[in-house]
Amino acid sequence: MTELLDGEALAARFREELVAATERLADAGSQPTLATVLMSDDPASETYVSMKQDDCAEVGIEARDVELDPTAPATELHDTVDELNADPEVNGILVQMPVPDHVDKRRVLRQVNPAKDVDGFHPENVGRLVAGDARFKPCTPHGIQKLLADAGVDTEGKDAVVVGRSDIVGKPMVNLLMQKAAGGNATVTVCHSRTDDLAAKTRGADIVVAAAGVPGMVDGDMLSEGVVVVDVGINRVDADTEKGYELVGDVDFESASEKARAITPVPGGVGPMTRAMLLYNTVKATGQDAGVDIDLP
Ligand code: GUN
Repeated sequence: MTELLDGEALAARFREELVAATERLADAGSQPTLATVLMSDDPASETYVSMKQDDCAEVGIEARDVELDPTAPATELHDTVDELNADPEVNGILVQMPVPDHVDKRRVLRQVNPAKDVDGFHPENVGRLVAGDARFKPCTPHGIQKLLADAGVDTEGKDAVVVGRSDIVGKPMVNLLMQKAAGGNATVTVCHSRTDDLAAKTRGADIVVAAAGVPGMVDGDMLSEGVVVVDVGINRVDADTEKGYELVGDVDFESASEKARAITPVPGGVGPMTRAMLLYNTVKATGQDAGVDIDLP
């Protein structure tokens, strides 16, 4: 039987624990606050940000909603980040990616105060992650680590293949899986759009993390029996549905399930865990700001 890695259920358990943590922080006089900054009219980005805000409300985090016109000059975004950096009531700042082409993304990532960088994208935080001393683990790979641990998937000594080398998912996932630490100690191969004979790499894997943003790029033929498959893709493809599209992953679920010991569904696998880890990092940031020791799961 293939086990379905239910991110929705695990995320709900994390949110319950985070409610208790935000209550402890409130008792200590600290109201955890996350500022989300959206400079885009992409419907998917709008949906993600609004889901993140709903999650905040559920666990007792105050959400500050900043929306900027995507055609506004880049200085508007920089001024906003400066204000949020300086605001002592704001514990976490999330600038939803992607930002418009006329904005220098790297400058924005460098500008966010590293202590409020709950995405873990600031170069200082990236460096700390690579050095094995993460302040904030990036939300998607962190959520995947939690999902694997909860399912009893031991990564130690396993061959893991990460398909995709993005700054948000692929690179930090590789780093977490190879760290000399719990949830790490794997032998990691990084594959991407220029990889020759991807199937040969994925067939040798005990764990495959598909994060390339290409619908159905990994199918059952490319996998070995007993593999654990994590599908990070959330691709909108045209479909005859009410919305005119459906969400599909980077993995062909049907054929992959025939080989996999465990697999994440899309939706309901990685996505909810990404959002739960954003709440986790915001609570962690608030505890650090307040000097309150909070035990996080
Ligand atoms: N865009 C897609 N995923 C993410 C994420 O985890 N954080 C931010 N800030 N933007 C994203």
